[in-house]
Amino acid sequence: MGPPERVVAFAPGRVNLIGEHTDYNGGFALPFAIDAGVRVRASALGERRISAVAADYDGERDSYSLGAEAPSPGGWRSFVRGVSAELAAEGLPLRGCSLAISGDVAVGAGLSSSAALEVALCLALLALADADVVPPWPLARICSRVENEWVGAQTGLLDQLASICGRERAAMLIDFHSGVIEPVELGLGAWRLVTLDSGGRHEHAASGYNARRAECQAACVALGLASLRDLEAGMLSRLPSPLEQRARHVFEENARVLAAVEALAAYDLEALGALLDASHASLRDLYEVSTPEVEATVATLKAAGAAGARVIGGGFGGHVLGLMPPDAVAPQGAMEVRPGAGARVLER
Ligand code: GLA
Repeated sequence: MGPPERVVAFAPGRVNLIGEHTDYNGGFALPFAIDAGVRVRASALGERRISAVAADYDGERDSYSLGAEAPSPGGWRSFVRGVSAELAAEGLPLRGCSLAISGDVAVGAGLSSSAALEVALCLALLALADADVVPPWPLARICSRVENEWVGAQTGLLDQLASICGRERAAMLIDFHSGVIEPVELGLGAWRLVTLDSGGRHEHAASGYNARRAECQAACVALGLASLRDLEAGMLSRLPSPLEQRARHVFEENARVLAAVEALAAYDLEALGALLDASHASLRDLYEVSTPEVEATVATLKAAGAAGARVIGGGFGGHVLGLMPPDAVAPQGAMEVRPGAGARVLER
């Protein structure tokens, strides 16, 4: 049997339960994949060209020869061109094809629509070329190079790994230092997790994110550390402001991730809620990635009875996560989120 003539791949967005801005600092995070995501249909063409259309973005087409991806055109086209260029740079096989991209995960709103797009494109292109499966970490790295070099956001590997490794009923404890990924059962009983959009994404989201990442790097240089994972509490006072606050957030957030795993194991959802609140306070006061819209959204969720509420993803806008006790009524516009299966080829 030769390679397939047509494949369909799907990759989900993600919600990060806790562990924000820890991924690029060799720390811990506890994300889960959600049901919403991006679907890519790839049909083989008789020439070494990609012709792509994205119905849910602008409905326009991009067409280019494989090997002639650069320069990065911007928007969703940068993801398509970046993925085919980076797969080729890895020596992975590629075939010319037409791509139809569609999705139901909000774009640019902290639910990782970008990672879902990158991962779905990779899976579709690799399946169409009958390539061997690429394991999670190398696949996530290929996707993050697309983000870093073709899109210009210096993001880490959290979103891609969450999308690739998602499982029903479980969050994933990711250790970005050892590379170990373990499922952690999300036993919520009658409690629910909801997300509520804070409104528009701020224009400086990418530059603010890149600036935070640079500050963490500067903190490492100042302390002579390879990564903030090696930070000890006693070192914090040696850092100037705002590096001290940034590093303190990362240090304490790592501990909160491990505490959240324990709270889940004990089905102690009040304790989990308190950890979400503490994570948010730290993202607001120490990491400084909140906005007035995000604060208003957190307040709305708390007023509705949320046991905990926090901004998710890079910050500077986007969705807020709320943990709702059984008797609480989620505010209007809130969407329930549950852990769903990871990225997969749906048809081949
Ligand atoms: C964005 C990035 C991730 C991660 C989070 C913050 O979602 O893409 O790599 O750094 O922000 O935790």
